[in-house]
Amino acid sequence: STEVPRSLIAWRGACLSIPCRYKPCLLFTRSSSKPTIEYLAWYLNPVFDPEKKEFTGTVLYKHNASIDPAFHGRVRFLGDLQRDCSLQVSDLQANETGKYGLRLIVSHPRKKQKIKWLSEISVNVMDSPPAPQIQAPNDFRESIPARVVCLIGYHCPDYPINLTWVGLDHGTPEYATRSADGSGLTNNTLSFTPTWQDHGANLTCQLSTLDGIQHSESTVVLDVKFAPRNVLLNVTPNQTIEEGVRLMLSCMSQDSNPPVSKYQLYKDGQLLQEGQTLEFEAKGDEHTGSYHCEASNEIYTVSSPKLRIDIQYAPKDARVELMTDSQIEEGTTVVLRCSCKAQPSASNYTWYRNRQRVLAQTQEELRFDEIRPDQFGSYYCEPQNSIGESKSPAIMVDIQYGPKDVRLTLENPQRILEGDLVTLNCSVGSSNPPVTKYTWYKDDTQYKETLENILTFPATEEQSGDYSCEAENDLCSFAPFNLGSFYSPDAPKDAHVELVPDSWIEEGTTVVLRCSCRAQPSASSYTWYRNGQRMQAQTQEELRFNEIHPDQSGSYQCEPQNSIGESESPAVMIDVQIILNAPQRILEGDLVMLNCSVGNSNPPVTKYTWYKDDRQYKETRENTLTFPATDEQTGDYSCRAENMVSFRQSLSLSVNVLCKYYRRNHFVLLPQNFYSIGAFQRETKIRFSPIRKMICLS
Ligand SMILES: *[C@@H]1O[C@H](CO)[C@@H](O)[C@H](O)[C@H]1NC(C)=O
Ligand SMILES: *[C@@H]1O[C@H](CO)[C@@H](O)[C@H](O)[C@H]1NC(C)=O
Ligand SMILES: *[C@@H]1O[C@H](CO)[C@@H](O)[C@H](O)[C@H]1NC(C)=O
Ligand SMILES: *[C@@H]1O[C@H](CO)[C@@H](O)[C@H](O)[C@H]1NC(C)=O
Ligand SMILES: *[C@@H]1O[C@H](CO)[C@@H](O)[C@H](O)[C@H]1NC(C)=O
Ligand SMILES: *[C@@H]1O[C@H](CO)[C@@H](O)[C@H](O)[C@H]1NC(C)=O
Ligand SMILES: *[C@@H]1O[C@H](CO)[C@@H](O)[C@H](O)[C@H]1NC(C)=O
Ligand SMILES: *[C@@H]1O[C@H](CO)[C@@H](O)[C@H](O)[C@H]1NC(C)=O
Ligand SMILES: *[C@@H]1O[C@H](CO)[C@@H](O)[C@H](O)[C@H]1NC(C)=O
Repeated sequence: STEVPRSLIAWRGACLSIPCRYKPCLLFTRSSSKPTIEYLAWYLNPVFDPEKKEFTGTVLYKHNASIDPAFHGRVRFLGDLQRDCSLQVSDLQANETGKYGLRLIVSHPRKKQKIKWLSEISVNVMDSPPAPQIQAPNDFRESIPARVVCLIGYHCPDYPINLTWVGLDHGTPEYATRSADGSGLTNNTLSFTPTWQDHGANLTCQLSTLDGIQHSESTVVLDVKFAPRNVLLNVTPNQTIEEGVRLMLSCMSQDSNPPVSKYQLYKDGQLLQEGQTLEFEAKGDEHTGSYHCEASNEIYTVSSPKLRIDIQYAPKDARVELMTDSQIEEGTTVVLRCSCKAQPSASNYTWYRNRQRVLAQTQEELRFDEIRPDQFGSYYCEPQNSIGESKSPAIMVDIQYGPKDVRLTLENPQRILEGDLVTLNCSVGSSNPPVTKYTWYKDDTQYKETLENILTFPATEEQSGDYSCEAENDLCSFAPFNLGSFYSPDAPKDAHVELVPDSWIEEGTTVVLRCSCRAQPSASSYTWYRNGQRMQAQTQEELRFNEIHPDQSGSYQCEPQNSIGESESPAVMIDVQIILNAPQRILEGDLVMLNCSVGNSNPPVTKYTWYKDDRQYKETRENTLTFPATDEQTGDYSCRAENMVSFRQSLSLSVNVLCKYYRRNHFVLLPQNFYSIGAFQRETKIRFSPIRKMICLS
């Protein structure tokens, strides 16, 4: 019929509040058939009297009736007849412990009999407030929010109590006090997020009255499960040590709940071993690395920070590597690198070439921007770190280059005679790799290829020429051309006299005759001839006249000579004369003969050309020109004599035809009738003497 707590507690002097509500089915039905409460009474320790068929006991409250004097003024019925049937008893006495019963008798319009109930609540009135009850989980986990409830089966608005949590003063616990509703209970729920610090803490719930007096309390010891704390990998004696030292690694955890059940050691992320400690002798390559450990308890696994262990050792396995092309050619860039294992890494490198220190080179790389052949040799390096140093094996640096210093020489020591064996030596100063082929050129065209540097052939005329050779090795490198000449031995040939200056020769100037020829070997002496007569004391290549005189006109020849023989040059004429072969006074009608007289000519003159007033006038085979003197014949005459080799030109001669009628009375100034000069060029006209004008006097 009602909703009431099963039991409540209270204590002396406190009040008792019994929350009570009618169940909906009791009264809250449709109005037409609404039941009515006919009897309502609260008893203390009601006892059923079978005779009276009624309950008896201490009446605490009876509707529309008087109350037991012992409770007078202490009992209040808080309810009504519709919903609420709550009762409050204040200032409780110790003997008021027991069962509190609510007797209800209800009449129902549609039922003949009345319906009766008794609701009972057992109430324990204690001497003092009991300890509140703490509802908490057996254990907590750090960081996982948890709730703890402090609870007591008491609630009375007239005598309020306070449940207070103490013992969790760190962090931000969330207190939430909840008190009475229909349950008749008071509770205080503590929500908090446990930390490892809370483990073992005494968490107390205190019950106090409003006057601040604390009456009772309950305590739980918190069991907070937490992950291993401050997990560290410890290395002794040091995380940086030299090879060979014994190292001990141990994994430590400051605290853990429950205790750490497993340790694991890792190197570079790989499980090394299960267990808390590990001891070993440090080996550089094997043991250098990044270490960490893990500590696990039932709940968590925690990693330590990573720890780098450096096992130091002097450089080892040093070696020199060629970083550039394995075939090293002169002028290329070559880089040698010194590599090694070392801890700490090598900081300093010493380089050696042929066991000599390479000065000022302390880098890992030895660099040649343009390597030279003389830098070849065996190289090694010596890397060094703070622990020590080590030497690498040597490597050979072999520098290849094309043939150098190619020279072509004629090896024959003595005079070569026709038919001798001629030896040409194409010598190569150096070459790496060695020369594989020699190519020979004669007069700039390829002549032969040989594997040897020697070319031999018999001395003949056809072999004469300019020779060069070219040496080649596998680098396809060519030696520069190198000219050498070979001519088969021969007497002088093509001897001829060159005249300098090669123009009009003036009296008193310097004239040089030079004898030139081809000869192998070259001419060693010269013989000169004038007009076919050997000139004494003239054996030089040149014949020199410092101030030539007309008397020195003549035909000159030279004869060069070498060990093989001699040859004679054609004659060179250096004079031509024109002679007027006529009366000294030429009168009209006289026969005039001009005589072009050649001092000497070899071969003989074949043609004479006559010029009058600079115009070609006539050609003759003889050296004379004859004509009758007329006035028109007056003029300047010259002649030119030619042979197969050359020609010479005379100077001009004036012919003046005199007036016939005044023969006896005239006076004539004759031009000088004789000049001698050698000349080459007819364009040039130089007169030696003035022409005097003839005057006819009447
Ligand atoms: C209670 O008393 C009131 C008047 O005081 C009366 O009206 C009512 O009928 C009585 N009820 C019962 C159940 O006696
Ligand atoms: C409780 O004890 C007091 C005296 O101490 C007495 O007067 C009273 O009647 C007792 N009450 C009950 C319900 O026995
Ligand atoms: C409970 O106690 C706290 C601290 O003593 C106080 O602040 C609070 O007002 C009290 N509450 C009640 C309902 O007495
Ligand atoms: C504590 O009190 C509140 C409000 O009265 C209630 O809702 C809650 O169920 C109670 N907790 C316990 C454990 O009794
Ligand atoms: C908790 O209470 C017990 C008993 O009073 C005491 O021995 C212990 O030291 C307390 N613990 C803490 C953390 O205060
Ligand atoms: C470990 O080595 C470092 C560097 O070599 C040194 O500074 C440090 O003192 C050493 N520690 C111990 C414990 O030997
Ligand atoms: C490098 O090594 C050379 C030779 O051992 C030494 O003279 C030089 O001081 C070293 N330099 C450094 C920086 O260690
Ligand atoms: C070629 O010339 C080189 C250098 O002058 C010389 O050493 C070598 O003996 C010569 N060879 C011959 C076959 O003459
Ligand atoms: C031309 O003159 C030369 C030299 O004076 C002379 O020997 C020669 O006989 C002359 N010739 C003639 C045909 O007169």
